[in-house]
This record gives sequence, C-alpha cells and structure tokens, in this order.
Amino acid sequence: MSMKIISNIEKMNQYAQSLTRKGFKIGFVPTMGALHEGHISLVRLAKKYSEKVIVSIFVNPIQFGPKEDYKRYPRTFENDCKLLKKENVDAVFYPSPNDMFPEGFSTYVEVDAGKSKGLDKKLCGISRPGHFRGVTTVVAKLFNIINPDIAVFGAKDFQQQLIIKKMVKDLNYKVKIITAPTYRERDGLAMSSRNSYLSSSQRHQATALYKSLLLAKRMILSNEKSPKKIISIMKKFIEANIGIKIDYISVVDPNTLEDVKEIKRPVLIAIAAFLGKTRLIDNMVI
Ligand code: PAJ
Repeated sequence: MSMKIISNIEKMNQYAQSLTRKGFKIGFVPTMGALHEGHISLVRLAKKYSEKVIVSIFVNPIQFGPKEDYKRYPRTFENDCKLLKKENVDAVFYPSPNDMFPEGFSTYVEVDAGKSKGLDKKLCGISRPGHFRGVTTVVAKLFNIINPDIAVFGAKDFQQQLIIKKMVKDLNYKVKIITAPTYRERDGLAMSSRNSYLSSSQRHQATALYKSLLLAKRMILSNEKSPKKIISIMKKFIEANIGIKIDYISVVDPNTLEDVKEIKRPVLIAIAAFLGKTRLIDNMVI
C-alpha cells in the first residue's frame, strides 16, 4: 500500500474527510520531523487505536523563540518518509510554513489565556514565553484540517500533552488524546530530535538527567517527603557534570503543575537543562 504525501492544506482536509466518510477511525501523530524511535512508538500506538494513521511533519515557526533553534532544527524529510512507510502510515501531512502562517495570520489559541500562573506559564513556560501558545495554535489548526478521532502525544513533553488535553476540553474538540510513555536510549537518555546537536562528551553527560530522576524516585520510594531535599540532591548530582547547566528542577502536581510542599503521590518530577546551547527536558511521574 502506498503512503500519501500531502502538502496542500485543502487536499489534506479532503483526504481526511473522505476517510471519515468511509467510516475509518483516524489516528493522528503531529511531529516536527527528524523522526526517531520515540516518534515511531507514537505511530504504533496510533495504529492500535485507529484504522488510518496520519502523521504531520511541520517545524512550527511560531513555537520557537527568537533566539531558539528554528533555523537549525534538523530537517530529514526523506528519511522520515522512509521510516513512516515501513510503519504502513497512510498519509504524511507536510505543509509549508507559508501556507500554515501566511502574511496577515493573527489568530492564536492560548490555554489559560490571561492567567498569570496558568499551565502554560509554569515549568518550560518560564524560560520559553509564548512557546505553548505556538504549540496550541498549530495543533488546533492541524486538528481542524484533519479532524482526527484520536491523537497521540508523548509523555516526554509532559506539560505539552497536559496543555493539549486542556485545549481539547475547553474548545470541544472531538479528538481523544492518548499519551505515550517516554521512549529512551539504552542508557536512559530520553530520545529527542535535539540529541543530534550533542557532542560525544555532551551525549555522555546527558544521561545525568535520567539518572537524577531515578535518584529522586528512589528517595520517594524510601519515603522522602521533602521536595526541597530531593531537588537539592538532584542538583548536586547533575552539577557534578561541568557541561550541564540546570534550567529548572521541579516537583509538582501532575494535573495542575503547582509546586508541592510535601510529596503526595502521584507527583511529577520535571527537569530542563542546557548542554552548551542544547536544551533538553525529561520527567518522571512517581
Ligand atoms: P516533536 O518534538 O517532533 O515531537 C512529536 C511528538 O513526539 C510529541 O508528542 C512528543 O512528545 C513525542 N516524543 C518526542 N520524543 C519522544 C520520546 N522520547 N518518547 C515519547 N514521545 C516522544 O512536540 C512536538 O514535536 C511539537 O511541539 C508538536 C506537538 C508537533 C507541535 O508543533
């Protein structure tokens, strides 16, 4: 079976509509390409929950800050298509930035709009202002174009999937959001398109993020109740690597992302750190 590659928005909309009319359940996996096994695990999950799978590949300009890596973000379209074909994906949506955000585009979707402490202002929202507004806006557009029955997001971007679920609820999208577990390299590093930026010594040091989460997990399982203590031990462990600069380590409620004063389970431990210019994130729900 051949895999369709569709760039035109109208054509994508018509193709998706024709599938729906024929009674197929559509599973959708939005990505920015540079696909790795983490993305593929989402595609496989989408396949399980639907009959036709559509994957979008779009490096979304409006979710990058002015000093971030939009221009140098890895673009490996041909290889991505090879991988998706192997997974029997039905269609790849590959729109151009100019079609998605033409001159004069000015309507945004913002979860917790106007709230100074909303979901999008916490954790990654602090060092990446406007990032989640860019994500929800593009995902809303993609949902409108494809109108999927289910869509799969990764737990690696925990805050993102939470914000998308809120958007779906608030705006009455019919799509059901499924969250896939974080897919890791053998040494524990969470797979990410940005891992390709790392030098070999940075790549080696990057495992400290996951190891620090395991350290936190062990502390919590042996009944440590103080987030402060956990954070300080994680910090020490990570800062033993001189190449890593912590952006944040937070211990929060997994539904509200509010800091917790005392550990009550479930709890989310989230971390963001710079290795040189590369910003990596990881998290664990315990
Ligand atoms: P991207 O970083 O390409 O990720 C696409 C999807 O793959 C996201 O849902 C992300 O959480 C998931 N993913 C990435 N690495 C993963 C891993 N190691 N394990 C499990 N899932 C993983 O996230 C985006 O793109 C964009 O913000 C997008 C939602 C496409 C909107 O532009």
